[in-house]
Amino acid sequence: MEFAEILKGVESEGKENHLPVIDVDKEQGIVHVVVGKEKPHPNTMEHRISWIEVFGVKNDGRIVCIGRGAFAAAYTSPDVYFKVPLKEFKALCALSYCNVHGLWQNCIELV
Ligand SMILES: [Fe+2]
Repeated sequence: MEFAEILKGVESEGKENHLPVIDVDKEQGIVHVVVGKEKPHPNTMEHRISWIEVFGVKNDGRIVCIGRGAFAAAYTSPDVYFKVPLKEFKALCALSYCNVHGLWQNCIELV
């Protein structure tokens, strides 16, 4: 099995939102990643987004782990901000983990 086989993307999305949606403010160098932007994902002990991780693809192709947000079940919404020198990156990718529905991915190009 390949790791990529367990990653789900927009094509797997059902009635709940799992994709980590990435927004950037290039002027301020802010990366905002949220799951459930349009419709909140459940946030209970039984069903929740446990964490979000964000990776940057540098202009030379190297990958940088930008950061991780871990969320308290039933308390903290899966919504994180990072301050990033965006000019060094050509793309950003994010992972989100739902304890029921697995691992989700999304990427954006910055150029
Ligand atoms: Fe879920």
